[in-house]
Amino acid sequence: MTRRPVAVSNWKMAMTIAESLAWVRDFQAAAGDLLDVVDVIVCPPFTALWATAQASRGSRIQLAGQNMAPTTDPARMGEISAKLLIDVGCQRVVLGHWEVRRHLGDDDDIVNRKVRLALEAGLAPMLLVGEGRDEKAPLPDVLQRRLERVLDGCRAEQVETMILTYEPEGAIGMAAPASPEQAAAGCGFIREWIRERWGNTVADHVRLMYGGSVAPEYAADLLSSPDVDGLGATRRGRNPEAFAEIVRQVARMGLGQSE
Ligand code: PGA
Repeated sequence: MTRRPVAVSNWKMAMTIAESLAWVRDFQAAAGDLLDVVDVIVCPPFTALWATAQASRGSRIQLAGQNMAPTTDPARMGEISAKLLIDVGCQRVVLGHWEVRRHLGDDDDIVNRKVRLALEAGLAPMLLVGEGRDEKAPLPDVLQRRLERVLDGCRAEQVETMILTYEPEGAIGMAAPASPEQAAAGCGFIREWIRERWGNTVADHVRLMYGGSVAPEYAADLLSSPDVDGLGATRRGRNPEAFAEIVRQVARMGLGQSE
């Protein structure tokens, strides 16, 4: 089974419009034809989405929103709906990120509501699951409970369009990522859980990534498991050259995959 490898650069609240335009220019120069073999997805702040979409036209860079409202109500103050994300050029939206859980109060039920709304609108979720700093239960128990809640009510063909990221909260913003063994265990569990619930076709097609302190020098080891189809980076994702190097490692892993 060959899955198209994927690399995600999430800019969080960084990047003015001018910086975003410079990133697109410099990343394309550094990445060259890597974009032909890796799905590169960029998550700019809402204010830079339009400019980044314009600058990326004609390239294979894809855009995702960093979050979305749990409602379609246009009277909702200060938030962005799935419809508006699609309007500005997003194909995907990040849901379940630890910082949105901590700072904005999303729990598994709200994440599930957002997942369903995104799917209904035609936006593919990039869903983060992992263990929180304070969750002491064994990893499979934590992941199983979380997956059951955040994917509740989703159909097989919907799950297949998603990208799921195994991201332990404790691995965010550190000097080094989780170990390759932990990344493999997290992604491996997620794929087998999906296999049990939705069958082989979905489990073999859905793409899984690792996220949390990814840097070029760790990428190859993190990608050594066949269940890890890609990597997501924030701090190193904002640096076009460092991110291009991560994409290069992802491409190398992809070229090594076989049927
Ligand atoms: P980092 O952030 O790559 O800077 O550790 C990861 C994240 O917050 O998803």
